[in-house]
Amino acid sequence: MSTDLILAPSLLSADFARLGEEVRDVIAAGADWIHFDVMDNHYVPNLTVGPLVCKAIRPHTRAPIDVHLMVRPVDRLVVDFAAAGADIITFHPEASDHVDRTLALIRDQGCTAGLVFNPATPLAWLDHVMDKLDLVLLMSVNPGFGGQQFLASALPKLAAARARLDEYERSSGRHIRLEVDGGVKIDNIAEVARAGADSFVAGSAIFGAARAEDPNRYDSVIAELRRALAGAA
Ligand code: DX5
Ligand code: ZN
Repeated sequence: MSTDLILAPSLLSADFARLGEEVRDVIAAGADWIHFDVMDNHYVPNLTVGPLVCKAIRPHTRAPIDVHLMVRPVDRLVVDFAAAGADIITFHPEASDHVDRTLALIRDQGCTAGLVFNPATPLAWLDHVMDKLDLVLLMSVNPGFGGQQFLASALPKLAAARARLDEYERSSGRHIRLEVDGGVKIDNIAEVARAGADSFVAGSAIFGAARAEDPNRYDSVIAELRRALAGAA
């Protein structure tokens, strides 16, 4: 995996009445991935979209689709989302009875595999699966909704995760990406990057921007996020 900084707009805050257009325009504005939040009203108290919608947006971009499964059980949807065109699939360890097997299942589908850590989920879940992981996603909000406040407790946790991943890379030579999700804005993304994240989900910060009819409506907010990240170096 490359180590450049990744911006992944979360579609949860996009206009679902014109999702294909939103996907095209936010990638054209310079975003890297599409973050696709899947909620089942079991694991989290909200319900969003399934593989059909992932399949519908797939032809609209060549950018990686980063599927965040907030679902329980997990395994069946891993196969369905891989078939629908997902490139990256992450899930919450508490939602799988066999985390090692679910990670292997994601890779067996040809997708990049990741674990998601809620604010109270300990990093100890990393202890026995580092060789099966390509990405760690740290939640800086409790999952289920866009537009929430960034939880500052995520910063020391990011630093601890970064230290573990760097140590693993030193011994294995394998880079594991560290993604952060929830409440990321123009005014905090630099601090989040300094804490150790290299990939950034942002939903309301991006799709909440002025929703003019203009196809370049996301250019300025993506550029501002990039400028803030450049300043963090
Ligand atoms: C929350 C989702 C996040 C959310 C981010 O459960 O996993 O991806 O959509 O939205 P913002 O950036 O608005 O917090
Ligand atoms: Zn998410």
